[in-house]
Amino acid sequence: MDPTEVNIPDVKDMNIDNITKNTILINSQGPNARVKYLFERLVTHLHDFARETRLSTTEWKTALDFLVSVGQISSDVRHEFILLSDILGLSLLVDAIDHPKLPSSTEGSVLGPFHSHEAETIESGKDISSDPNGETCLVICTVKNPSGAPIEGVKIDIWETDSSGHYDVQYSEREGPDGRCVMKSDKDGNFWFKAIVPVSYPIPHDGPVGQLLKLLHRHPWRPAHMHFMFEKEGWDHLITALYITPDPYLTSDAVFGVKDSLIVSLGKVSAIQAAEYGVPEGTALITHDFVLVSDKETQSLRDQNALKAVADLFPGKKMKLLDHLPVPDVD
Ligand code: BEZ
Ligand code: FE
Repeated sequence: MDPTEVNIPDVKDMNIDNITKNTILINSQGPNARVKYLFERLVTHLHDFARETRLSTTEWKTALDFLVSVGQISSDVRHEFILLSDILGLSLLVDAIDHPKLPSSTEGSVLGPFHSHEAETIESGKDISSDPNGETCLVICTVKNPSGAPIEGVKIDIWETDSSGHYDVQYSEREGPDGRCVMKSDKDGNFWFKAIVPVSYPIPHDGPVGQLLKLLHRHPWRPAHMHFMFEKEGWDHLITALYITPDPYLTSDAVFGVKDSLIVSLGKVSAIQAAEYGVPEGTALITHDFVLVSDKETQSLRDQNALKAVADLFPGKKMKLLDHLPVPDVD
């Protein structure tokens, strides 16, 4: 676009008091209302952060160097920015905003950096782990709607670490996917498989995020868990996990993923279950009923929450939803 056609504000003599307003103005020339609103709020909060903390140039340089090192250590298999978002609580926050839940539905948890699209699709009953040192665990689950009706044909991704607390993708020399699978729920909403009892493990902490945790006097541990991701057209995408009690890290998860409703106790396979599922009596057992919410219900909940949140934040300011996301109503 010809710059002479654009009404660029006069950007000279910037100072502590006028830099924010002018940065917002110069960022507001495009036609996309959502982009303008995102950058207006981002610049407002970043500038307020600097003003409120009286940020020094040395501190800002340290922060920029830190972000450079987060980028430098990142690769296809090392997602340091996801770790950073996770330990800052931002991943959990964005998931909670974008996937609001009815009280009767399964709560979400953090995705983390170790989901992969390589997992094999299996039928119920298979063993997803080849780890000889892991304790075998039978996992029997259902997936239903909030009224208790089964949902058939839901695609379910499941992943867990081996008994040493490492995901398959963390091994540079590996033969193929392990400790993960993709399944489909049957006509009664059932899916079941064999795995190993999850163990607690530290998130990767040999890089800049680990140094940051140290600076903040925080540990890198996650409580023992198994990840689940549910997808079916018409239903809200659910990323969650089951956390095993007891575990010393249930109340101090490094990435804030634990919710009371997602904590389960390990049971023991009964004689009847042993015969039905083909595992020895007394094998460790996880059972859980997952509940999905329809896209429509989630959208309506998300819209209501968004309008209420911006009305509380900006009393008196006219706001509207554009593609279900809030923007100032300037028309
Ligand atoms: C995980 O549970 O796989 C995970 C989550 C966040 C950061 C690192 C790992
Ligand atoms: Fe995990």
